[in-house]
Amino acid sequence: MACKLFFYLGVFLYMFASLPSLVHMYPVSYGQLDYNFYDRSCPQLLMMVRYGVWSAIRNDSRMAASLLRLHFHDCIVNGCDASVLLVDTPDFTGEQNAFPNRNSLRGYEVIDNIKADVERFCPSTVSCADILTLAAREAVVLAGGPFWPVALGRRDSKKASQQAANQQIPSPFEPLENITAKFTSKGLDLNDVVVLSGAHTIGFAQCFTFKRRLFNFQGSGKPDPQLDPSLLSDLQTTCPNQETSNSNLAPLDAESTFRFDNTYYSNLVKNSGLLESDQALTGDPRTAATVDYYSANQYAFSNDFSASMVKLGNVGVLTGKNGQIRKKCGFVN
Ligand code: HEM
Ligand SMILES: *[C@@H]1O[C@H](CO)[C@@H](O)[C@H](O)[C@H]1NC(C)=O
Ligand SMILES: *[C@@H]1O[C@H](CO)[C@@H](O)[C@H](O)[C@H]1NC(C)=O
Repeated sequence: MACKLFFYLGVFLYMFASLPSLVHMYPVSYGQLDYNFYDRSCPQLLMMVRYGVWSAIRNDSRMAASLLRLHFHDCIVNGCDASVLLVDTPDFTGEQNAFPNRNSLRGYEVIDNIKADVERFCPSTVSCADILTLAAREAVVLAGGPFWPVALGRRDSKKASQQAANQQIPSPFEPLENITAKFTSKGLDLNDVVVLSGAHTIGFAQCFTFKRRLFNFQGSGKPDPQLDPSLLSDLQTTCPNQETSNSNLAPLDAESTFRFDNTYYSNLVKNSGLLESDQALTGDPRTAATVDYYSANQYAFSNDFSASMVKLGNVGVLTGKNGQIRKKCGFVN
């Protein structure tokens, strides 16, 4: 009870704090983007995003995770251009029904609602790509994670590609080598893979994304020998060996499912990573040491996660005539 009270008090103070000291800690611009981009044209922006994310999480605590992932799936496919928000129509096929997204990505309506608010105050001014980038940051903060500055001025794409989404989003079934290649092709590096995978400290995965570890690992007829026995038996209960369990949910971090902390890494050290791609980070000497380091050092993880999120948020951004400010995030103007 008291805990909940402090949570709301904290959120309240956070929502109305203007963070003046932070403004001066960071340079005015980052690449083509600018920290003060909407200061004049939409001073209410941050408050509206904050409120929209806060009320969505209050209704559904998983939403923090879902918004963070939505931003990742936007940025990793042809850049942070809100392409992932475009809905399929009879004559348009976008990214939402690509394999990694279909029946999996969540939070579109949260961004649509924030956008509708923002349009009321600042019509045709703020891009959906910027709203999504800010929403991901707010979500992490509200889940107890770090704050990082978000430079603004992204524009929205006029197209989207289902094929690109299928090719560019990493799969939990591919080796670290392949996942790393997908990151490096976007200007991210191996350390960003380790750090950003720490996002799996919140949220859930469907059974089909890890079930082969539970019953018939690599054709052995047995579970993945590396998987911690107690977690294995919990997961076998959540995900019985039948097709019908495919969409059941297991927490990515069973220790603190809704809390953005470094227990993702201590889980990995204890062979309690959920996805094969998570646990693989302890199997490569180049990444295992970093996993150990973050498992013991929450502060270092927070700092490095912030830095990597800034990098992710700047992948392939559109400015000027290459993009537009959509009126509705689901549709090109
Ligand atoms: C490194 C390669 C990555 C792989 C292979 C991967 C794979 C996955 C998979 C399979 C799921 C479960 C989806 C489902 O069951 O419907 C998931 C969930 C999630 N992913 Fe990743 N992911 C990766 C990186 C990232 C990154 C970089 C972020 C964010 C910075 C992220 C954030 C999340 C979050 C927060 C969830 C939970 C979403 C929810 O509960 O709605 N992931 N990921
Ligand atoms: C609240 O969350 C549930 C899912 O948990 C969702 O179906 C519903 O639409 C949400 N309501 C609002 C007002 O966001
Ligand atoms: C990994 O990448 C290689 C080279 O691009 C490819 O041949 C292989 O099929 C990929 N492996 C998986 C499991 O996706």
